Order: sequence, then C-alpha cells, then structure tokens
Amino acid sequence: MRKTDWSPGQYLKFEDERTRPANDLLSAVPNHDVKFAVDLGCGPGNSTELLVKRYPHAEIVGIDSSADMTAKAKERLPACEFAVADIDMWQPQKTFDLLYANAVMQWLPDHGRLFSRLMGFLNTGGSLAIQMPDNLQEATHVAMREVAADQRWAARMTQADATRSEIGTASFYYQLLRPHYQHVDIWLTIYHHPLQGLDGIIEWFNGSALRPYLSPLNSDERADFLDKYRQRLAQSYEPMDDGVVLLPFPRIFIVATR
Ligand SMILES: C[S@@+](CC[C@H](N)C(=O)[O-])C[C@H]1O[C@@H](n2cnc3c(N)ncnc32)[C@H](O)[C@@H]1O
Repeated sequence: MRKTDWSPGQYLKFEDERTRPANDLLSAVPNHDVKFAVDLGCGPGNSTELLVKRYPHAEIVGIDSSADMTAKAKERLPACEFAVADIDMWQPQKTFDLLYANAVMQWLPDHGRLFSRLMGFLNTGGSLAIQMPDNLQEATHVAMREVAADQRWAARMTQADATRSEIGTASFYYQLLRPHYQHVDIWLTIYHHPLQGLDGIIEWFNGSALRPYLSPLNSDERADFLDKYRQRLAQSYEPMDDGVVLLPFPRIFIVATR
C-alpha cells in the first residue's frame, strides 16, 4: 500500500461518524494522571483533539505514516507535536501514560507481537486503548474482494487484499493482554450509519478501505471497479423510502490498564 494515498479531505467527509468511536474509546479509559499521551495513527488530528480536550495539561504527540495527515493535524493543533512514523518501527524516546490508537491497528500485522512491543512504552498505571473496525466479513468488504478478483486487475490486487489484518477474537486479545495488565476491558459495538444511498457507502470507503484497491488502477479502471462494486452493494443494501441506507459497522474496542 502506498501510505501517501490517504487523503485527509476524503477521510474528514465523515468526520462526525468517524470520531464517534474515537470518543467512545476515550470515554472508557479510566481516570488517571496522564502527563504524556500518544495518538497512534493520528490521521488529520480529529482523534488527537479529543485527547487534548480530555487532558489539557498533558504533553500529547501524534504519529502517522502519512505526511499529508500529520500536516493536516499540525494545522489543526499547532501546540501538539506530530511525526511521520510507522507504528511497527516506532521507537519513542520516552514512555507514556496513554497509548491511544483509534482505527489504525487493523492496518498493521501480527497483533500478538505488536501489542506486546507497545507495552514496553507504557508506564505503570497507564492504558493502552485500541479501536478497530471489525468489518472484513461485512458485505461491503466481501464485495470489494469479489470485484478485486476480476481478471482484468486481479494480478495488481494481491497487495490490496493483504493490507488489512485479520482481527482476532475478544478472547485472543484478552488472553494476550490480561497476564500483563491489571484490568482488560473488551467490547464490540455495531454502529448503524445513515448514508445517502449506495453512493454514500462508496464515498465512505473511498476515504479508507477502497484506497488500496483503487490506487493501482487508472481512471477508467477505477470507474469500472466502482461500477461493479456498486452493483454488488445493491444486492445487500436496500435504500429506505427517503433514500438513506443504514450501514452496519462493527468495531472492537480494547482498553487495557497496567
Ligand atoms: C482510519 S485513519 C484514523 C485516523 C484517526 N485516528 C481517527 O480516529 O479518525 C487511519 C490512519 O492510520 C494511518 N496509518 C496506517 N497505517 C499506519 C502505520 N503502519 N503506522 C502509522 N500510521 C498508519 C493512516 O495514514 C491514517 O491516517
């Protein structure tokens, strides 16, 4: 995946909907004295802003693999520090009271190794807070994979299919974290986002999951891909009388406190 393909503008078209789980995640972090916090995969700073509001006296940094995203975040929150970094390689110079990762870990492999590594950057009493879309089996994503299998472009799609990690079960994450944390809280929420018809669904995923599929294609192929994708969506999502489609969106939440 070309990480630069993330577009802050496209992503923020659904800012309220995308920030809601970020808020729900932060609400579940227990009250403790947070002096240093990091927003992993901070995107355009919408999730970082929640940390700033909750911990106005803390030093808050954001990291993201996309320079466009960190630039946008810096514009939004000039007092915070932002750095371009891959979470998998990230080696901070200090430890934190909160490691917060909203809607990013699904792009990283091997959660067993990664989450264990991150614990080394967390102070005693601190929390690791993670939210990930758990939607790979939703019709939206099955349809993406089916369209990607079209022989016209299948050879260019192998990387796209591999960009998202399989999300583990709640018991996988519980057993991974519980031996090292005093308290582990895991839950699943299914949001139902009212979107403007099938085009609303396409618009939503244009800012996230569709990117790796569309980026290897030229503009004609992109139009063909989206046309086929739309036809498949029509088999699973029916607009209501007012044209709105409710998009079910399951997300897993994990808050582990040392
Ligand atoms: C879905 S957005 C989440 C943005 C924000 N945290 C929010 O709550 O809305 C995912 C972000 O993760 C970043 N990202 C993806 N893979 C990454 C990696 N390996 N390391 C750091 N950031 C990554 C992307 O650039 C993007 O900005």
